[in-house]
Amino acid sequence: MCANMYEIVKAEKLTPDVTRLEIAAPHIAKKAMAGQFVMLTVDEHGERIPLTMADFSAEKGTITIVALEIGKTTKKLGTLKAGDSLFSLVGPLGMPTELKNYGTVVCVGGGIGLALMYPVVRSLKKAGNRMISIIGAKNKDLLIYEDEIEKVSDELYVCTDDGSKGHHGFVSDVLKRLVDEKRKIDEVYAVGPIIMMKVIANLTRPYNIHTVVSLNPIMVDGTGMCGSCRVIVDGKTKIGCVDGPEFDGHKVDFENLTARNRRYLAEEEISLRSFMGAK
Ligand code: FAD
Ligand code: FES
Ligand code: MG
Repeated sequence: MCANMYEIVKAEKLTPDVTRLEIAAPHIAKKAMAGQFVMLTVDEHGERIPLTMADFSAEKGTITIVALEIGKTTKKLGTLKAGDSLFSLVGPLGMPTELKNYGTVVCVGGGIGLALMYPVVRSLKKAGNRMISIIGAKNKDLLIYEDEIEKVSDELYVCTDDGSKGHHGFVSDVLKRLVDEKRKIDEVYAVGPIIMMKVIANLTRPYNIHTVVSLNPIMVDGTGMCGSCRVIVDGKTKIGCVDGPEFDGHKVDFENLTARNRRYLAEEEISLRSFMGAK
């Protein structure tokens, strides 16, 4: 392994709680595709966590990840600076986004999901689709990747929960308006909080608009060996990290995913408290 493998080339805060890291990983960058993720360990005492690649460049030999700092590992990640190195990085993992010319695709994203949505919009646009992007956040200061997504979209709709920018309300309100206006929509792609993806899937189901969602089950190895990330799709057990992370939203059991993602809440809280206390 070369000395600067997994070195942070650039580190920046997109919002007070969102960190973007560009990492030297030429072997991953040359194979990476939209929708795929990496498993990383910050230091030798750390756990492995999955993060989607928000960008990748085979020419530069780097990948970019964007993390919402919600717990011990993502907060630790947020302390890294250019020149630091990750302990381990594995990828690209998971099935890439299916890149077909569907016609008109509506991509819907919320919160940290916007960073994950960017390479998907870019790739679907390159595949010849007309791209309508609907992006949302709690307020205008938390809207990330707006400029990047706008550049690769034919139409962009911005929503904020507090009305500080664009539509005052949810991304699902805008999608509903487009559906009610009988706009031509051949495919919908949604990424963001589980509740948002569930609402979008419920909205498109009666209209039979195929809807892909990007799921975030708890992953341990990320390569199909432990079963931690199992999800129920169409009544069958699927392995999130190798069969997904993208699935047909009309067939996902969102209640099961929500419950399974809460199964270590007590331990996560203790871990975060001891990390913050130790800082
Ligand atoms: P913790 O306090 O340990 O956990 C907070 C919450 O995060 C938990 O309640 C649980 O719901 C979830 N979580 C915890 N551990 C894991 C784990 N090992 N795997 C998955 N979820 C976990 N987040 C981003 O900010 N940016 C991304 O690009 C991104 N991409 C993801 C891609 C995939 C395929 C998956 C499955 C998840 C992705 N996530 C992403 C979620 C991210 O992995 C978790 O937020 C992170 O692991 C939390 O770690 P923590 O120690 O900071 O928080
Ligand atoms: Fe272990 Fe998917 S994370 S099987
Ligand atoms: Mg954790």
